[in-house]
Amino acid sequence: MDTRKIRIFDTTLRDGEQSPGCSMKLHDKLLVAANLEQLKVDVIEAGFAIASPGDFESVKEIANHVKGCTVASLARALKGDIDQAWAAVSGAARPRIHTFLATSPVHMQYKLRMTPEQVYDQAVNMVRYARNLCPDVQFSLEDYTRTEEEFSWKVIEAVIAAGATTVNLPDTVGYAIPEEFGARIKRVMEHVPNVDKAVIAVHCHNDLGLAVANTLAALRAGAGQAECTINGIGERAGNAALEEIVMALRTRHDFFEGISCDIDTTRIMSTSRCVCSVTGSRVQANKAIVGQNAFAHESGIHQHGMLANKQTYEIMTPESIGLSQSQMVLGKHSGKHALKDRLEQLGITLSEDALQELFGRFKELADAKKVVTDADIEALARGLEQRSSGRQKLVFDRFLATTGNTNANVSTVRLVVDGQSVEEVAMGSGPIEASFNAINKMLNLHVSVENFSVSAVTENVDAQGECELRVRHNQKVYLGRGVAQDIIEASVRAYVHALNGLLEDEQRMTANAVTMAAAAGGGLV
Ligand code: KIV
Ligand code: ZN
Repeated sequence: MDTRKIRIFDTTLRDGEQSPGCSMKLHDKLLVAANLEQLKVDVIEAGFAIASPGDFESVKEIANHVKGCTVASLARALKGDIDQAWAAVSGAARPRIHTFLATSPVHMQYKLRMTPEQVYDQAVNMVRYARNLCPDVQFSLEDYTRTEEEFSWKVIEAVIAAGATTVNLPDTVGYAIPEEFGARIKRVMEHVPNVDKAVIAVHCHNDLGLAVANTLAALRAGAGQAECTINGIGERAGNAALEEIVMALRTRHDFFEGISCDIDTTRIMSTSRCVCSVTGSRVQANKAIVGQNAFAHESGIHQHGMLANKQTYEIMTPESIGLSQSQMVLGKHSGKHALKDRLEQLGITLSEDALQELFGRFKELADAKKVVTDADIEALARGLEQRSSGRQKLVFDRFLATTGNTNANVSTVRLVVDGQSVEEVAMGSGPIEASFNAINKMLNLHVSVENFSVSAVTENVDAQGECELRVRHNQKVYLGRGVAQDIIEASVRAYVHALNGLLEDEQRMTANAVTMAAAAGGGLV
């Protein structure tokens, strides 16, 4: 059987970050990029450099850190965007500029207000411009699946002639159906005379739940690059999920006739967990490949079959995606080294300070709980993993809440604020709100809390509670997560975690303003 190696282009840090509530900070992005490098993706789309100074900084940092993959920045087909993308990725070992322009009638007429001829010229000119800067240029025909086919062939031929090394054909609005999409890609292969001079890529959205099926159909029809995100996160219903594409190719290599990729599948689970952790968005339990139930066998008949021979109900092994079988991990006599080892297996990297803190919390938990599972350790690590390496302004110390259905809810909270112990007391409609009010009083803060949720990490009554919330302040949103056996404590920890993000951001903005004022020759008075 002939083999054909395809490229995996990961856009978790760009399209994935565009999903509601999935924005990531620089530290988070570097963590995800390091995981993607270990997973061995071919291309990391690190962001959209012109979108904001923060985006520019993170693309640049990722470009400077990542050595094993191509690093791309998105750019509209405009000189300013392309210059900014190049400034961000030029330090990469393998830089790529990814520029795009819509080619469907509806986009050209209403969004761009351009004629097809103008779009054609703009695409060619901007690819040529980008190619003068960077040896690797990708061009995307946005809304390709609603583009008139013959027009698309002309644009593809022209951008390849202008120097595009990859041409991407996105299903921007998730409109395609697999047979139809595969047939369209096949016709591209047949009708574009210079198609062999570039790689044809596909980028599918999941509005009809067909993103992975469409991607696989396109790969069979000759596409050489699949664009995808970890856990399928992305705009609206998301993008094609990397783990599903890769495991389908691997598990059904008989059907896919030798199409393969370089992904180290044993890193899938840890990368998925890392993305959940930094975005605060979990995958549903029955999500293919990485959901909590993906390898669980509940029914008696299935369990019987599995005991007789795993192949009866298992088409891939948990080990192939790096899922550990061990549930029981460490006990109260385990040392820091063993904890560090376990974290590495779970794909979690912590700074020395965070590891020290985690170790303390782990010991407390091991004292209180009979069994400490991987899930407990992961939950404890999640809050710490998200922190930047700098010192936290607020550190939770203790709380005391009085609550009940017949008396007022009062909470006293003590935090260490910039090294000083501070305590406040407040009332609220429940003990959690009372605790948050005490913190607001202490810091003189006015913020709103959204998406508040508390869930149990494991299934028994001694389970830890994990709180997730978002704090909104000045139109920015900060994710907070906290874990503790007491759900009030978990909530307070989550609130403090989000506020640390907010205060860190404000400090950075003040520092930038001071620098700018100093550069302008003035001062802030
Ligand atoms: O969905 C889309 O069309 C995109 C392009 C920018 C590639 O994300
Ligand atoms: Zn997209």
